[in-house]
Amino acid sequence: MEKLYEGKAKIIYSTEDPEILLTHFKDDATAFNAQKRGTITEKGAINCRISSALFQLLENQGLATHYLDQPTPQQMRVKSVTILPLEVVVRNIAAGSLCRETGLEQGTILPFPLVEFYYKKDELGDPILTRDRILILNLASLNQLEQLQTKALAINTHLKTFFSQCGITLVDFKLEFGLDKEGNLLLADEISPDTCRLWDQNEPDPEARVMDKDRFRQDLGKVENAYQQVQTRILSQLQLT
Ligand code: C5P
Repeated sequence: MEKLYEGKAKIIYSTEDPEILLTHFKDDATAFNAQKRGTITEKGAINCRISSALFQLLENQGLATHYLDQPTPQQMRVKSVTILPLEVVVRNIAAGSLCRETGLEQGTILPFPLVEFYYKKDELGDPILTRDRILILNLASLNQLEQLQTKALAINTHLKTFFSQCGITLVDFKLEFGLDKEGNLLLADEISPDTCRLWDQNEPDPEARVMDKDRFRQDLGKVENAYQQVQTRILSQLQLT
């Protein structure tokens, strides 16, 4: 196994099969473009388990992902894809940068799910992109952009319903997509409390309800508890415990 890439939260290794990669989920946590760093105990295993469960859920709904299987608690085998340098963010409720940049009040329910594209480029601070900027920078074709929008909305519909069954409100989340060697767009990366905003439906208090990386970003404490709780609810809803 050769280390191909090490990111903030994951390491990618090659395998003996050139079509298959191994993703190792780290306990390291970063925020604000890695200006804030820490570790979250058990995060790697929890995020790997949650992502595996959600990828399988989406595959069962006919949405193609890079997921193959989870050979160990912190490792996922995935199809080898070329990741597009785009972060696709879907928002159901206003929070985070949407509030900061538009003045919308946190918690405002959006009239329709908002799909946004950000440029995956640390040195530029991951700026928001327009359709035409994406085309001019050659980050995706028009056809791929339309597919990304459609897929992101379909994923949102399934995840929102599923999280709601777990007693969790899906506020917003980030997706990454990759192209396989046939040119198919597959959902890739991870879906976890690191990449979603998740609010406990049974908890009206705006700090206590946070079950995601905002607990780390905003120093709200009980980060491990929150991640564990998300995992427990997902696995018990799927009857995997
Ligand atoms: O920061 P912002 O409000 O734009 O984030 C929107 C959603 O995308 C949040 O759920 C956040 O966790 C996720 N995100 C991410 N990785 C980034 C930026 C945002 O997972 N680099």
